Amino acid sequence: MSNTTQHQEILHQLPQILIRVTADLNGVTAINDLEQIKAKYIGKSGEISLLMQYLKIVPAEEKKAFGEAINATKLQVQNALNEKKEYLLQQDLMQKLATEAIDVSLPGRGNSNGALHPISLSLERMLDIFKQLGFNIADGPEIETDYYNFLALNFPENHPARAMQDTFYTQGNNILRTHTSPIQVRFAEKNTPPIKVIAPGRVYRIDMDRTHSPMFHQLEGLWIDENISFANLKAIIIEFLKEFFANPDLKVRFRASFFPFTEPSAEVDIMDKNGNWLEVAGCGMVHPNVLQYMNIDSEKYSGFAFGIGIDRFTMLRYQINDLRLMFENDIDFLNQFKGSN
Ligand code: PHE
Repeated sequence: MSNTTQHQEILHQLPQILIRVTADLNGVTAINDLEQIKAKYIGKSGEISLLMQYLKIVPAEEKKAFGEAINATKLQVQNALNEKKEYLLQQDLMQKLATEAIDVSLPGRGNSNGALHPISLSLERMLDIFKQLGFNIADGPEIETDYYNFLALNFPENHPARAMQDTFYTQGNNILRTHTSPIQVRFAEKNTPPIKVIAPGRVYRIDMDRTHSPMFHQLEGLWIDENISFANLKAIIIEFLKEFFANPDLKVRFRASFFPFTEPSAEVDIMDKNGNWLEVAGCGMVHPNVLQYMNIDSEKYSGFAFGIGIDRFTMLRYQINDLRLMFENDIDFLNQFKGSN
């Protein structure tokens, strides 16, 4: 008799167990914690699963109902677990959506456009002008040999420009080119007249102050053909200067000067707004010795060369009073050239 009572007792406990399951589930906030509750009640040795052990004391005719009641309870627990899991997944999703939400009504960050460096701007301007005057563009290495930088340009062995205070020497007795003139020789070696090229590039000298930088930019020009004269040189230079400074009335003068690789040689000055002459270029007729190094017949051909400081022109065009500003990459300085040409 007592056995019958006991198994009925057990069946009466089931609703109470379910209440505890519900209470436990209410306390769960993380999906991972559901496993523990599952184990506690319906796992292999869970509280409800273990009740099956009593099956053996249940009278035969009630075994079926007893088993069904326990299984139904287990199923209810499983359903409750599933429901809670579903709920927690939903919660996670909602939270994610809330924290990762994109507020489409916020204003955009906008784009910040860069600006071309003033040196690039004025170089582009120079290239445009010389292309219109029929010049092609040549190039050469920044690390040069003594031969191309000096000897083939008719620098005597003991010329002061070769001295250590001007020239950067690299390993292996090469140098950083001190001007773009070596490109003249390199180009003329590989080409035959007519030769009509400009060659922009970086050059290096040991020098540093308000108007000098150890690295600066030059643009070399070279035109070799039959019957090229100093008149052609003047015409090209004057045309270029007037175009570059957008001033058809620009005053230009040629002042006798000396370069080992040109004869005669001149320096070019322009007049500024205040009536002062400013030196802007060096030029001259290519020296016969240099033509010889270029393997060009100096009886048949003649030519002129010029060298201009791109940085100097940039300072004049944009009224920049300190050369060093152009190499400091200060963003406020550079921003002033947005939209310039
Ligand atoms: N190479 C000279 C310099 O750097 C400039 C120059 C070039 C002069 C061509 C005459 C002819 O000063």
